[in-house]
Amino acid sequence: MKPERKPRSGGAATTAGNGNGAPVIAVRNLEREYAMGGETVRALAGVTFTVDHGEYIAIMWPSGSGKSTLMNILGCLDTPTRGEYWLDGDRVSGLSERELARVRNREIGFVFQTFHLLPRATTLRNVELPLLYAGVPAAERRLRAVAALERVGLQDRQRHRPNELSGGQCQRVAVARALVTGPSLLLADEPTGNLDSRTGQDVLQLFEELNHEGHTIVLVTHDPGVAARAARCVVLHDGRIASDERTGAAKQTGGRTT
Ligand SMILES: Nc1ncnc2c1ncn2[C@@H]1O[C@H](COP(=O)(O)OP(=O)(O)O)[C@@H](O)[C@H]1O
Ligand SMILES: [Mg+2]
Repeated sequence: MKPERKPRSGGAATTAGNGNGAPVIAVRNLEREYAMGGETVRALAGVTFTVDHGEYIAIMWPSGSGKSTLMNILGCLDTPTRGEYWLDGDRVSGLSERELARVRNREIGFVFQTFHLLPRATTLRNVELPLLYAGVPAAERRLRAVAALERVGLQDRQRHRPNELSGGQCQRVAVARALVTGPSLLLADEPTGNLDSRTGQDVLQLFEELNHEGHTIVLVTHDPGVAARAARCVVLHDGRIASDERTGAAKQTGGRTT
């Protein structure tokens, strides 16, 4: 286990790494199988790649091919059937549910296609929630949640509930919630999938800005237009990596904390 880190403020958090020079993500021969009736569905068939601090990478794959399966494993919401997952130099595959929950809370910000906000809670409350789980005192929670909401341009929507916001605003709240703990890694599973194209572009713009500020981002999508916005694009085919290319689309920070 890693030493305790200083809490970082939501909006200004960056991903400098833990100083051991390890990549943020290293997965090796990752496999995930599901038992379906009498058959075995093989959603991941031995995926190997690494992601360095400060990278912005899009993983592109058609629908139904295993994107969410991969993201759930990277996000510590699920475990692989076989293979290894190292997060920031620590081996994650093989940890217990409880340990995984802790790693998830400390290291990972997750943005889902359908936002996953608590419908009855205010924007502020939704963003504070991961800090509540982390045991952060109320006054600090409030300050950090407000800073994260400012970062995504929603400081004037603190008292609104999700049904009083547009889809794009809901996704911004979800991004603020993902940022508020100062995670090592921002994961986004089809983050523009439920947005119209203009609003989707705004969310992608926000990801680009966050990457320029030093955040490490991994996004999955079936949409080549979305993937082209990232600096590196990995294409998966039949559960394996078919190509891995720098697109040159976004400026890489290479792990700098600008
Ligand atoms: N919990 C599950 N039980 C059984 N099969 C699953 C489960 N989750 C996903 N699958 C199967 O694994 C494959 C990949 O699914 P998924 O990762 O959701 O793909 P994507 O996100 O790319 O659309 C699909 O064939 C899907 O039916
Ligand atoms: Mg999916």
